Amino acid sequence: MTEQLEKPPAVHAEGVVKRFGPTLALDDVGLTVRPGESHALVGRNGAGKSTLVNVLTGLHRPDAGTVRFQGEPAPAYGDMAAWQSKVACVYQKSMVVPELTVAENLFLNRFEPGERFIRWSRLRQKARELLSSYGVDVDPAARAKDLAVEQRQFVEIAKALSFGAKLIILDEPTAQLDARGIQRLYAKLRELQAQGVAFLYIRTTSRRSTTSARPSPSTATHAMCSQSRSRICRRRSSSRR
Ligand SMILES: Nc1ncnc2c1ncn2[C@@H]1O[C@H](COP(=O)(O)OP(=O)(O)OP(=O)(O)O)[C@@H](O)[C@H]1O
Ligand SMILES: [Mg+2]
Repeated sequence: MTEQLEKPPAVHAEGVVKRFGPTLALDDVGLTVRPGESHALVGRNGAGKSTLVNVLTGLHRPDAGTVRFQGEPAPAYGDMAAWQSKVACVYQKSMVVPELTVAENLFLNRFEPGERFIRWSRLRQKARELLSSYGVDVDPAARAKDLAVEQRQFVEIAKALSFGAKLIILDEPTAQLDARGIQRLYAKLRELQAQGVAFLYIRTTSRRSTTSARPSPSTATHAMCSQSRSRICRRRSSSRR
């Protein structure tokens, strides 16, 4: 794990500002997540969590500030393939196509150079290899709609990792899980953390996350945790424990 800490952060954001007209959604936000760490981004409705996720995944261009992945500047805006190789968000609403199989979901729109026809047995084999490389025990031939919620999350995480992402953002990952599903999810996340994957959990809270949080919805998210005026609170856990 010391080895992981010596590596550059999976993500390091500094001085991020994002406005929507008169609304200052992010005001001087900073965040560092190191390989093998998990952080939670906690804030109430309108605190700016989604805006920050959109900045970290290349969907929003910040008005100011920098984002770096593994020590390198974030990809150019619009180059989604490059962003996919750095970071992915597993949204609360699953992005897998329910009617397709796990293998089809994993390789949707991913053709190998020169490949003109889909060889289904080869596709399933590649899917099996991909899933087993992340220890995901899901049948590649199963329809996504027949999977348990956490299995769908595992498939999305495995897909993101196969693009090279080292940071996975999880939007309210436990919202639709029962107690056993939560246990299985956390067990898998701990395994992946031990392999150096970094996680950022998004969690909405109905209460103010800090004592001095201001109620106005137009008040921006400030640099997290380090400042008492923060409306988003960052919590940290690490597989170092
Ligand atoms: N595209 C947009 N245009 C205008 N204002 C926006 C836009 N996106 C977000 N905002 C505003 O920015 C602020 C932060 O919104 P954001 O969606 O990031 O909060 P959130 O923490 O994700 O909230 P929730 O818990 O409800 O998902 C809010 O005041 C919101 O109204
Ligand atoms: Mg949101």
